[in-house]
Amino acid sequence: MTVRINRDRLWSTLVELKEIGAYDDAATGLRGVRRLALTDADAEARRRCVAWMVEAGLRVRVDRIGNVYATRPGRDPSLPCVLMGSHIDTVATGGAFDGTLGVLGGIEVMRTLNDAGIETLRDIEVGFFTEEEGVRFGTDMLGSAVTAGRIPLDHAHKLTDADGKTVADELVRIGFDGDAHERRPVPHAYIECHIEQGPILADAGVDIGIVEGVQSISWQRLTLRGEAAHAGTTPISARHDAGLVAALVVVEARRMCDSGEFGQLRATVGNFTLGEGQTNVVPHEATITLDLRNPDDALMTAAEQHIAAYVASTATHHGVTAAWERMAKTAVVPFDTGIQDLLAATAEDLGLPYVRAMSGAGHDAQEIAAICPTAMVFVAGENGGISHTPREYSTPTACANGTDVLANAVLRLANQPQSGAGAII
Ligand code: GLV
Ligand code: MN
Ligand code: MN
Repeated sequence: MTVRINRDRLWSTLVELKEIGAYDDAATGLRGVRRLALTDADAEARRRCVAWMVEAGLRVRVDRIGNVYATRPGRDPSLPCVLMGSHIDTVATGGAFDGTLGVLGGIEVMRTLNDAGIETLRDIEVGFFTEEEGVRFGTDMLGSAVTAGRIPLDHAHKLTDADGKTVADELVRIGFDGDAHERRPVPHAYIECHIEQGPILADAGVDIGIVEGVQSISWQRLTLRGEAAHAGTTPISARHDAGLVAALVVVEARRMCDSGEFGQLRATVGNFTLGEGQTNVVPHEATITLDLRNPDDALMTAAEQHIAAYVASTATHHGVTAAWERMAKTAVVPFDTGIQDLLAATAEDLGLPYVRAMSGAGHDAQEIAAICPTAMVFVAGENGGISHTPREYSTPTACANGTDVLANAVLRLANQPQSGAGAII
């Protein structure tokens, strides 16, 4: 049996959610989405998604880290469910598709099964996870990492934003401090549909990607402390310029990428703050964040060791102290090959060409992979797949094709009588 989702309905749902947290982006002149986790905008988007879930006849529950799950019952509720999902929080300069496609696509799958009157053996669930982006509370994949047991609930609850507000208090404030246990029942399988956020699919001329895994991610915050001094009178040789050391780290991180010494390393300093930021004062303090990505764990370790040594010697040379704070770290996560093959077979049956690729971005699927067989469907993006900017865009056809693959793969999994990783295809 093959189902086709309602393309117009999926698109109008995406367009509707895009309005929640919408802002005018001065840099691009476009309308973007700013829906940081557990803000009022996120709360409104959560309520809208829950309303859609309830309208689709789903049973909704919220867990203690604010993850939301909605269930479409199968004939045998004693069997582990098939889970779909992603996230609806965005970065501060976000678009309409990152994460949202997997959640609204999952809701569309439920609506499609309802319209066709299709019953499944297993329950099917669609969920969204709290603070996937990590922009507000400093740790990405927070809700799914708590679900997978990698981050303890208590630790997650105590994380603070830039204003000192905790995750726990913000969950209460927006009314998403649920009581379901965060270590949820183990699913039969998890599939996440997500935009690719890169150029591989577009370059191959296909709408669909079958994701082989996610590369290693390392996030650290570096605080450098020197000494404030007068810009006009302090001899260059007498300065302890924290800003200078921070700038050298940015340049070294780029050099490491260009050198090829660390494989396909990608390094980004996305936050760079100088003390009080005064024109005529040598900065006494600099804080930067360093985001490293690498598809090879050993080369990631080598890159982390290299930059640590570089910072230590450069800071000493300039009479500055350096303190590192670990924000997040995940190893390379390979996805289940059985689910990948099932997704590939599904795409072929639908007549949709695809390529297999590693994910450059992090995803909730990398956490859920620790508890059940997991894989992802990628959907091509326009403009080289650019993302984390209002320029992010995937066509209605690409979004619908990806969601068709999701729907049919989930349908197959939800009718599998056996349980366990070995029984996936
Ligand atoms: C998630 O958006 C990431 O930073 O990869
Ligand atoms: Mn995402
Ligand atoms: Mn993102």
